[in-house]
Amino acid sequence: MNGKEVSDSIKLEISQEVEKMVGEGEKRPKLIAILVGEDGASKTYVGNKERSCAQVGFDSEVIRLPAETTQEALLTKISELNSDSNVDGFIVQMPLPRHIDEQTVIEAIDPKKDVDGFHPLNVGKMVIGIDSFISATPKGIMELLEYYKIDTCGKHCVVIGRSNIVGRPLSNLLSMKGTPGDCTVTLCHSRTKDLKAECLRADIVVAALGIAEFVTADMIKDGAVVIDVGITRVEDSSTAKGYRIAGDVKYDEVAPKCSYITPVPGGVGPMTIVSLMKNTLKACKQRQ
Ligand code: GUN
Repeated sequence: MNGKEVSDSIKLEISQEVEKMVGEGEKRPKLIAILVGEDGASKTYVGNKERSCAQVGFDSEVIRLPAETTQEALLTKISELNSDSNVDGFIVQMPLPRHIDEQTVIEAIDPKKDVDGFHPLNVGKMVIGIDSFISATPKGIMELLEYYKIDTCGKHCVVIGRSNIVGRPLSNLLSMKGTPGDCTVTLCHSRTKDLKAECLRADIVVAALGIAEFVTADMIKDGAVVIDVGITRVEDSSTAKGYRIAGDVKYDEVAPKCSYITPVPGGVGPMTIVSLMKNTLKACKQRQ
């Protein structure tokens, strides 16, 4: 599954809609990202988000705060953005430095501007199937399944990893009534007794545990669909940067067994970003 290609076509649709809105005198959607500290991967994500905003015609801004920023100062910034009528949505890039409590920060964001869909109100609405902001990675994966018309009805899906950002919300979405959806879902994690046996029963495997090349060919049934959410930097002296980006799946040996698989990079990553753009457009429209 080519996430880059699918996301490019969705970006084109978004940009056309934005130009139409602006042509009719409405404001341009605006997304802000707050980045605290110097985490390398976070800087890459935020840079990608900024570039994508420009591609779809959104206004965007990155607020870069030093790693020593206090929780109080961050909460003050969030409060300013909550009441800034020009800002449609904003995200606080995770992970945050250890002295800041992520949950307190998430709960300070106005749910109407929470385009990450991390606020408990949005998470709760999603779980019971009420319209809400759905977090970008799970939403992007659902779009990819829809785009490729993958038959999910009644399928057994194993999600590996129970994070609040990916595994837990995705396991909920896959079990919802609908297309894609209607899956029987098993949410696996570090305490799962026999992960290999669970995976071998799965029609769809989602690897979202954050361990490079963890899923191997002997864990996958012939013809399965494999979605790889991993993005880990692994040392590689043969590359100019000294590292390469690896997924959670050993792609070369797993791909020949699959009916569909997402590559890393170019699979789930671009779909995540485009879902954030969609959420921002939705926030903008709902505020009109
Ligand atoms: N860190 C990793 N993924 C995400 C995401 O989707 N949103 C935010 N805010 N931080 C992240």
